Amino acid sequence: MIKAATKFKNPRAKYDFQGRTCSITGVGSYLPEKILTNADLEKMVDTSDEWITSRTGIKERRLAAANEFTSDLATQAALQAMQRASVTAEQIDLIIVATITPDMPFPSTACLVQHKIKARRAAAFDLEAACSGFIYGLEIAQQFIMSRTYDTVLVIGAEKLSSIVDWKDRNTCVLFGDGAGAAVLQNRPNAHGLLTAVMGADGEKADLLFMPGGGSRCPATAESVASRSHYLRMEGKETFKNAVQAMQTAAQEAMRRCEIDITKIKCVIPHQANRRIIDAVLERLGAKPEQFFVNLDRYGNTSAASVAIALDEAVQTGRVARGDLILLIVFGAGLTWGAAVIEW
Ligand code: ACO
Repeated sequence: MIKAATKFKNPRAKYDFQGRTCSITGVGSYLPEKILTNADLEKMVDTSDEWITSRTGIKERRLAAANEFTSDLATQAALQAMQRASVTAEQIDLIIVATITPDMPFPSTACLVQHKIKARRAAAFDLEAACSGFIYGLEIAQQFIMSRTYDTVLVIGAEKLSSIVDWKDRNTCVLFGDGAGAAVLQNRPNAHGLLTAVMGADGEKADLLFMPGGGSRCPATAESVASRSHYLRMEGKETFKNAVQAMQTAAQEAMRRCEIDITKIKCVIPHQANRRIIDAVLERLGAKPEQFFVNLDRYGNTSAASVAIALDEAVQTGRVARGDLILLIVFGAGLTWGAAVIEW
């Protein structure tokens, strides 16, 4: 049996998992080399470094090369996470890739990653929950591990958003970037690991953030291309308001389940969409700025990869140590949202 926690409640302890828990045993990330700065964007659309910085906090973002796809970014992040977790490709039972920019509509990007990392035993599928995909993925992985169906699950958030961004639309093109983050999940004896994950969705607001073309509703035609339907569209202001509210509510629910308040959290890793959204959530949660991990100035919004990359950077830079509590908070298209509390 795992030892009882003293500083928090483990909401899953009431179920009999016979000592089984689910921890992240390794993390990794990959950012493409090419940097696109706000100054570069000034040459592409009618914008300014001052506008982008003051409205979003973003200074630069990464762009994948023309011959570099989401599965390539995912593979690099996965290999790093596997090495840090000391697991071989043969040990991996399941690969989940959270993405809205798969290499192709099918087969899944997870299958392409499975082949690239030679995880021959692994089942593989993609998960589409936009920017919330990494937390959705952690929660799904946990179910397989706690039930002893699988021992080792790879959860990856990976995006080549530059492939669906309209580079003529200043409202959106300044916000997004490419990248990938990955985590290996396993049972770690005598650890609590992933304590709880809140997941939410509201399909009524699907039209706040979406890509109209390319699916069964609007297949690719000369007209769909001419009307720029194969690029993402967003109602910025409404998305902003919904993001703040949903992130606050999800975070509070996750902490309530663990019977902790924000002072017990060592590091909060929010979805990296906009500095002003992060500041509003920080204020509503009554957190201290030093509790929040922010890297959006360097990468912009990388959707499903966002909190995965930030988690890796927080770990590598010593912002969290074994035993610390981490709070992940996400929000994205769908609408979808989520929050997770992890004992590191
Ligand atoms: N440069 C200069 N001016 C701009 C730019 C730009 N890049 N973009 C918009 N503007 C202009 C607008 O045209 C508008 O001009 P107008 O008043 O003459 O019409 C003015 O700036 C103000 O625009 P607003 O939309 O009011 O700007 P706002 O302060 O709301 O910021 C932003 C816009 C940054 C998009 C913000 O609303 C936001 O971050 N929204 C949330 C995005 C988000 O969180 N997405 C998360 C999910 S992402 C996912 O799931 C993939």
